[in-house]
Amino acid sequence: MSDELKRGLEGVLVAESDLSYVDGEVGKLVYRGYDIEDLARGASYEEVLYLLWRGSLPTREELDAFTADLAAERAVDDDALDAVRTLADAGERPMAALRTAVSMLSAYEPESDADPEDLDATLRQGRRITAKIPTLLAAFERARQGEDPVAPDPDLSHAANFLYMLTGTEPDDVSAETFDMALTLHADHGLNASTFTAIVIGSTMADVYSGVTGGIGALSGPLHGGANQDVMEVLQEVDASDKDPVQWVKDAREEGRRIPGFGHRVYKVKDPRAKILEEKLRDLSESSGDTKWLDYTTAIEEYLTEQGLLDKGIAPNVDFYSGSVYDSLGIPVDMYTPIFAMSRAGGWIAHMVEYQEDNRLIRPRARYTGPKASEFVPVDER
Ligand code: CMC
Repeated sequence: MSDELKRGLEGVLVAESDLSYVDGEVGKLVYRGYDIEDLARGASYEEVLYLLWRGSLPTREELDAFTADLAAERAVDDDALDAVRTLADAGERPMAALRTAVSMLSAYEPESDADPEDLDATLRQGRRITAKIPTLLAAFERARQGEDPVAPDPDLSHAANFLYMLTGTEPDDVSAETFDMALTLHADHGLNASTFTAIVIGSTMADVYSGVTGGIGALSGPLHGGANQDVMEVLQEVDASDKDPVQWVKDAREEGRRIPGFGHRVYKVKDPRAKILEEKLRDLSESSGDTKWLDYTTAIEEYLTEQGLLDKGIAPNVDFYSGSVYDSLGIPVDMYTPIFAMSRAGGWIAHMVEYQEDNRLIRPRARYTGPKASEFVPVDER
């Protein structure tokens, strides 16, 4: 047994996986061998889910059946929707509300007694969770606005239906395609912190609701999924101040602040997902004529590049651009991280099932640094 300590498990291999590969040196991401760029531009989120869960890209017939099965699971029990409204009325934060709501969904799971080793049942449960997360999130946001939930439309795609349930209006094609692309880009990313959390939970043969609930908790932190909201808050802070973005970033660096949307444990160059979203933001900004967020992000990135941050391997990550894209779709800032969870749930479920196919309980050790022989004194004698 090695006593070498690897803080943050940096670089430690704990499992084999066929799902996604991140080459941090060249900035490449593949899902089961397919380049993220090809998938983002050519495949729907449903196709990507099929690829992750079933192992290959679907034929048209397979995709139609899969899409219909997923869409058929979107409705959420009225009691669960009431609970979502209660959370909204209590002022709960969206990620915490989602964590509670997903955990509660298991009360309505028709296969709750399934054998944990029945991985087909786990995948069906995972499909129900994935289908219902957008319904929960849209209902939560509408409740905050004092509006009733909008029933899902099974004829719309996963992405379009979410935007429809959020606003009550069917999105135009550009918005639906943009959102679908964002979902595809966030669906999986190796053993990141939230995916690792999900497989640790899965390795005890706990159910998939527990794994997804744990994944949401891990994703909510500012070092992981919370960064997309932080980026938009920075852009808004710059906008509200009389500083220009370069002055803001100079001051932030002088104060020793981290720049949200920069840096990554694996990528040492610009994240390929950031490149795709940057291009999307450019298209959207040019067609709307509103280039403010694009101008700010470009100015910040150029300044940090000149300062040599990119040479040190601290480059823009996916979160640097996703917020600006969501803003163009009219999505509220504190829903950005829940949207990340909506997509990444597909990856968590795929990893849990893949890991459980050849399960081994994940149980590392800590190097004990406390005393080894303290003398016990009863409470009244201390
Ligand atoms: N701004 C300024 N300096 C940074 C940043 C940043 N965003 N990120 C890392 N550094 C510096 C850090 O100060 C340290 O410098 P030094 O060696 O001089 O002390 C060096 O880079 C290494 O940092 P680290 O914290 O040891 O690196 P890590 O691998 O633990 O960090 C990270 C990865 C994502 C936690 C970090 O880059 C960070 O906090 N970024 C900002 C938050 C963010 O954008 N998170 C989203 C990540 S991508 C999406 C996702 O995974 O969910």
